[in-house]
Amino acid sequence: MRSQDRYAVFGDPIGHSKSPKIHQLFAEQTGQSLQYTAERVPAEQFTTAADTFFTQGGKGLNCTIPLKELAWGYAHHKTQRAQLSGAVNTLAVQDDGSILGDNTDGIGLITDLMVNHGITLKDRSILILGAGGASRGIIGPILEQSPQRLVIANRTVEKAVELSQLFSQLGEISGCGFDDLANRQFELIINATSTSLTGELPPLPENLLARDGCCYDLAYSNQPTAFVHWGLANNASKSLDGLGMLVEQAAEAFYIWRKVRPRTETVIALLNSQRGL
Ligand code: ATR
Repeated sequence: MRSQDRYAVFGDPIGHSKSPKIHQLFAEQTGQSLQYTAERVPAEQFTTAADTFFTQGGKGLNCTIPLKELAWGYAHHKTQRAQLSGAVNTLAVQDDGSILGDNTDGIGLITDLMVNHGITLKDRSILILGAGGASRGIIGPILEQSPQRLVIANRTVEKAVELSQLFSQLGEISGCGFDDLANRQFELIINATSTSLTGELPPLPENLLARDGCCYDLAYSNQPTAFVHWGLANNASKSLDGLGMLVEQAAEAFYIWRKVRPRTETVIALLNSQRGL
């Protein structure tokens, strides 16, 4: 019997990863024969673990916190979107044996916003909270959709300004601190800080969200996150968390590896029903 192609997600912590379930559902749906496991890999063991995985015939890896920057350095070559984002969440063995690094987080977010939720980005005023790795991964794909303007607000103001300068060639983008948000309004606010899961929130002024505006938290949880609650309390027409983005970034990785595009709506529906939101 032909052995199954092997894939895995590396991260630390990794215990609650939904990726094995998602890829198993994609494989069943598309008739692909593959194995996908979750492995706890601390940062200092990443290079050895990845070398071992690929030497033993592994075909592709997903990398999550805290390994995305290391995976960026590990890849032999990278797609343009990964190059810009400074992080890699998908490694794929190529026909010549080299390892390609890609970042499917940004396209995962865009697909969830636009296709799954019908949220337009073109000509919209968009605010991203946070200027860390998660933020950097989504800025390029958002600017590609030609928003009216994109503002990055961060606790450490210089990081927001630096990040906005890095992407200034791609569109109308600026960086600021949370204090500078007073008397401003946005039609879409995306939380890319790491606060949500600790139940904290950045200090956000009243009336920040425009009428009929939407909120999106890149984080997800079995309970609504603090930022999803904030959106609901501020009359967001939609206040979403990142479960859809998780499934969409996985679908894009699956496509890179298998050249087959899985359907995502049934997988998102199943995961949503399992968390009972
Ligand atoms: P990630 O890769 O998840 O983006 P990160 O690179 O450590 O993680 O970035 C975390 C982001 O959350 C940063 O924008 C951070 O703000 P600083 O750059 O000022 O550190 C933001 N963050 C973390 N805790 C925060 C808090 N309590 N209030 C506001 N922002 C916070």
